[in-house]
Amino acid sequence: MARILVTGGTGYLGRLVVPRLVRAGEEVRVVSRSPHASGDGVRYLVADWTTGDGLAQAVGDAEVVVHLAGDQLHNEQVARTLVRAVRDAGARPHLVNVSVVGAEKVPVRSGFDRRVLGYMPSKLAQERVLEESGIPWTNLRATQFHELVLVAARALTKLPVVPAPSGWQAQPIAADEVAARLVELALGAPQGRVPDVAGPEVHTFRAMMRAYLDAVGSRRPTMPVRVPGGASRAYAAGANLNPDRAVGKQTWAEFLAEHVERR
Ligand SMILES: NC(=O)c1ccc[n+]([C@@H]2O[C@H](COP(=O)([O-])OP(=O)(O)OC[C@H]3O[C@@H](n4cnc5c(N)ncnc54)[C@H](OP(=O)(O)O)[C@@H]3O)[C@@H](O)[C@H]2O)c1
Repeated sequence: MARILVTGGTGYLGRLVVPRLVRAGEEVRVVSRSPHASGDGVRYLVADWTTGDGLAQAVGDAEVVVHLAGDQLHNEQVARTLVRAVRDAGARPHLVNVSVVGAEKVPVRSGFDRRVLGYMPSKLAQERVLEESGIPWTNLRATQFHELVLVAARALTKLPVVPAPSGWQAQPIAADEVAARLVELALGAPQGRVPDVAGPEVHTFRAMMRAYLDAVGSRRPTMPVRVPGGASRAYAAGANLNPDRAVGKQTWAEFLAEHVERR
């Protein structure tokens, strides 16, 4: 049994990773910015990612840290805080990180790019912090989760005409399949960067919106919208795809059939 700390264990992916670790018989702790009741084999700890308070204590005796905490833009800062806490604690856990396919391929220059599409460079900066930390690490890059595309679909399809950035492509994967791979990695030795995991099919964003509309029984039209900037061009050129690593099983259509009801 290993002592495993999961950062971001309250998030979407975390809620899939944590029970898998518990079922594997590991001693699981989750660090969160807010208090949660411990139970179901999980102990929750509170830490402040701005000051780092509570983090050194949380990582202190962890043998593995599965790092899932972060948001759209603050992944580098969060990783730095984690690395500092590991050093302060004098710990040397195996650090398992999750990143995103194409992190180095999406340029972000203008204010618009940074605000809307700054996620990829933020994940790249996070990877660099961990790689240079001297802590034994494993890094898995995944494509966009079906669940994330579904959130976008639900929001955009409220509009009378559904805007779809021109040419943008995606290769969505089930988050639970990514969770399974992360658990496998967490239970093994540090491997550095491991092969990406990508969904089984590549679609245009517009085709995915159409499939969602059809699944809910809506006849609303979709309309291509030109999104300016280098990051948008990168999404259209497939920077966020890895067809050679299409190892995911569940397709977008299968995911929709499971998660969406006809109105
Ligand atoms: N979603 C995707 O399509 C996708 C694809 C590839 C990789 N990933 C990566 O997978 C990981 C998990 O993604 P997810 O979709 O599960 O994310 P999520 O649901 O947003 O959960 C992330 C968790 O991180 C914590 N967090 C959020 N902002 C933070 C901040 N500024 N400082 C410190 N902690 C913060 C939150 O936990 P507390 O509130 O409990 O502190 C939150 O529950 C992320 O690293 C993401 O980049 C996601």
